[in-house]
Amino acid sequence: MSSPVFERLSTLAEPTRARMLRVLAVHELAVGELARVLQTSQPTVSRHLKQLDAGGWVLRRKVGTATCYRVDPSSLEPEAAALWEVVRAPLDEDARDPASLYAEDLRRLDGVLAERSADSEELFRRLGGRWDEVRQELFGEACLLPALLALLPPGLTIADLGCGTGAMLPLLAPVAAQVVGVDREEAMLEVARARVQGLDNVTLLRGRLDDLPIPSEGVDLAVCALVLHHVRELGPVLAEARRVLRPGGRLVVLDMGEHDREDYRQTMGHQHLGFSREQVAALAAAAGLSLATWRLLPPDPRAHGPGLFVAVLARP
Ligand SMILES: C[S@@+](CC[C@H](N)C(=O)[O-])C[C@H]1O[C@@H](n2cnc3c(N)ncnc32)[C@H](O)[C@@H]1O
Repeated sequence: MSSPVFERLSTLAEPTRARMLRVLAVHELAVGELARVLQTSQPTVSRHLKQLDAGGWVLRRKVGTATCYRVDPSSLEPEAAALWEVVRAPLDEDARDPASLYAEDLRRLDGVLAERSADSEELFRRLGGRWDEVRQELFGEACLLPALLALLPPGLTIADLGCGTGAMLPLLAPVAAQVVGVDREEAMLEVARARVQGLDNVTLLRGRLDDLPIPSEGVDLAVCALVLHHVRELGPVLAEARRVLRPGGRLVVLDMGEHDREDYRQTMGHQHLGFSREQVAALAAAAGLSLATWRLLPPDPRAHGPGLFVAVLARP
């Protein structure tokens, strides 16, 4: 093991060190920044950097109180540069797969640089179309819907008709004065109860949609998500929705557009194979509601079910 080639091979054979070199070849970073990119501890990064520094793999410079590191392949000794090229090429190939660790490193690098940069114009010019990935990496997707729901005016009472396990209730609770979830199935309500524990403005009621346990004109808005295709007689259900809405109130319906999956009748007890816009407009009119908007939703590429629509039915 006296030849430097073995030392160099052993340096590059350690995956964290290889990732570090690759990231530092893209951009100069301080120790803390590199730790955040690799999602590992600063002592671990420092330990590896010490070894890389001793082997002449990285360049070091002081920036204020911090030490920044980078890799400049042109400054490596020829044998080290050749070895690095052998390691770097497959890592770059791997990074083409967005799910790979190396692609994640690069996205986190963008995120770390984004936080560092005072010049947002420069930042967004550099990120270009990759901003969605960086946002996903830094903040996830869960922030988008709550931000949009904050558009609702304050002080509303909102009913979730056929709330099931209550997936919508924690989204509605922070932006509403009161939220009422109604469902006829105790098993569903049990899950919903656990979900809304600690949310003081949510009430769960067991009841049927054609005989709602809600006073007349008791809610400003109602939502009925993925329920109506289970209901044989839709007239009484929509009439009940109208009764509990205040004048000017709105019912949001999320359901499937017309489809031909006949087996859903047997396998899931569907009473209707989706709805057309005309059917919903006619049902609304018969209940004294008007179809204010109708929109087919863009399909989710990960979903296998039929396409969905969202309709808003208004009480005059
Ligand atoms: C497919 S789940 C949808 C649950 C929830 N809205 C969601 O989007 O996750 C349909 C729910 O509607 C309820 N449901 C169906 N018909 C009902 C009726 N006539 N009265 C009350 N609840 C009903 C079922 O018990 C079930 O919990």
